[in-house]
Amino acid sequence: MMTPQEYEQGIRELKSSLNAVILAHYYQDSEIQDLADFVGDSLELSRKAASTTADVIVFCGVHFMAETAKILNPHKPVLLPDLLAGCSLSEGCPPPAFRKFREQHPDHVAITYINCSAEVKALSDIICTSSNAEKIVAQIPKETPILFSPDKNLGAYIQKKTGRPMTLWNGSCIVHETFSERKLIALQLEHPDAELIAHPECEDHILAKASYIGSTSMLLKYVQTSPGKKFIVGTEYGIVHQMEKSTSGKTFLPLPPEANCACNECPHMKRNTLEKLYLCMRDMSPQITMEPELLNRARAPIDRMLEMS
Ligand code: 13P
Ligand code: SF4
Repeated sequence: MMTPQEYEQGIRELKSSLNAVILAHYYQDSEIQDLADFVGDSLELSRKAASTTADVIVFCGVHFMAETAKILNPHKPVLLPDLLAGCSLSEGCPPPAFRKFREQHPDHVAITYINCSAEVKALSDIICTSSNAEKIVAQIPKETPILFSPDKNLGAYIQKKTGRPMTLWNGSCIVHETFSERKLIALQLEHPDAELIAHPECEDHILAKASYIGSTSMLLKYVQTSPGKKFIVGTEYGIVHQMEKSTSGKTFLPLPPEANCACNECPHMKRNTLEKLYLCMRDMSPQITMEPELLNRARAPIDRMLEMS
């Protein structure tokens, strides 16, 4: 077993010898974020993956994110420190059931949140993320009915914002559904000067109390530019690392879950550790592997998203 400093040193050396780029999501542990070349939300990470000139992509995030990077870079190795880093939204939308959903609505265009498997992407028309969903939905002709999957909370939020009725898949995120309205009210009474900012994966009764709603990067930008000094953060708490790093004199309070648990941490994201990051780079394994046929089918709806956003 090496010390954290030895792992960090080893990762830096491997990054240079492999000519690798480390891409990390905001929900990763802070020491992983600090080693990354780029930290971002799902859309920014996809864009970085599409434009990188590195020989190897090391993805510190969950499986669907690394899979998207592979789809955009079929000829490059894409490493994920723990292949079991899944996502409840992706798991709650199995391809056979999604195929049936589409067959039941043959005249609908399928806009699917990026938090899904490659197979579900391949069965979709357009992919979106929480930062471009509104823009993409707004581009669909008014007379075309829309299927929105797999997050019903994001779907309901976009429906409200655009005024477009959509048929929603019944899925949700285990992290964003744990936030407690009761505890939020208590926190707001204790800190009347704090504003709630929330990710659109939260339930409607939480979003209704938020002064700002957006993707992880949008939330980060908001706290950086807002004159506010105190924020209740309604998303996975890992993002607070960048919020604290890039602001001064501001306070960030976690929105508590209903149970006394660490349920506002994504257990899938947290499967990636410094040790696993080091080992995957040393061994060039585990890697994302995909059948070329699936990869090609999944690419078209991602390209459509990148063109439309
Ligand atoms: P962002 O695209 O906002 O980073 O969201 C990803 C995610 O998985 C939120 O739970
Ligand atoms: Fe998936 Fe929720 Fe984790 Fe985001 S926070 S990766 S939506 S389980």
